[in-house]
Amino acid sequence: MLVTESASEQISFASQIKASSQDNHTAAEESPYMATLVRGEFTVEQYAWLVKQLQVIYAALDSNCAKNNNQLDLAPFFTSKLQAAAALDADWDALVAMEDVDTDSIYVTDATLAYAARLNELGNEWPAGLLAHHYTRYLGDLSGGRVISKVLEKGLPLSKDNGLSFYEFPEIESIPAFRTSYRENLDKLDWNDETRERFIAEVNTAFELNQNVFKSLEFVL
Ligand code: HEM
Repeated sequence: MLVTESASEQISFASQIKASSQDNHTAAEESPYMATLVRGEFTVEQYAWLVKQLQVIYAALDSNCAKNNNQLDLAPFFTSKLQAAAALDADWDALVAMEDVDTDSIYVTDATLAYAARLNELGNEWPAGLLAHHYTRYLGDLSGGRVISKVLEKGLPLSKDNGLSFYEFPEIESIPAFRTSYRENLDKLDWNDETRERFIAEVNTAFELNQNVFKSLEFVL
C-alpha cells in the first residue's frame, strides 16, 4: 500500500507522541538501573534511592500542575486522581522505618535537581510543556508501573500499604479506561503543528531527564 501524506496525517496526536518517543522509552527500559529493577535483582536500599529522587520530582511535578490546573486545555489532565507526591512521602517514611536500610546516606542527585528545575521553569513559563512531563511520568506509571510494582512486591519485603503505595491510584476505577481517556484528551487538544512539535520535543526531554536520573543511580547497583 502506498503511504500517502494524507494517511500519515490521520495518525492521532497521542499515537504520534508514543511513536516519537519509542526509542527513548526502550532506552529507559534498558537502562542498567531500571533493567536491574525489573529483573527483580534489587535490595530495598537500592530501591530507596529511586524513591528519594521521585519524591523530589513528583513534589515539583504535582505542585506545578496544581498551579496551572486553571488552564482550560490542561485541567482534564491535571486532576487530583494523578498526584503521587504524598504517596511517595509515605513510602519514604516506610523505608526509613525499616531496620536494615541505611536511608541516612541517601541523597538527591544533581540529575534529579536538574529535572525538578526544568519542571519549575515550565510551571512558570510554559504549562503545556508541563503536560509533556505529566504524560511521560503518569502514563508510564499507569502502564509499565503496573509491571514494576508487581516485581517489587514479589522480590522485596514491601507491600501496597508499606513502601509501594506510589504505584496505587485508588481514585482511578479502571486504569485501562483512564489511560484511553487520557490519550483521547491528548487528541482533543486544539493545538497547531508548531505547538504539537514543541510538545513532542518536550516529551523526549522528559525521557532524557529521567534517563539522567537513572544514570545518576547506577553507582548503587
Ligand atoms: C523497566 C521499565 C519499564 C517498563 C517495563 C515499561 C513498560 C511499559 C509498557 C508495557 C507500556 C505499555 C505499552 C503499550 O501500551 O503499548 C508502557 C507505556 C509507557 N511507558 Fe513505560 N516502561 C518502563 C519504563 C518507563 C519509564 C522509565 C518511563 C518514563 C519515565 C516510561 C514511560 C511510559 C509512557 C509515557 C507510556 C505510555 C505510552 C502511551 O501509551 O502513549 N516507561 N511502558
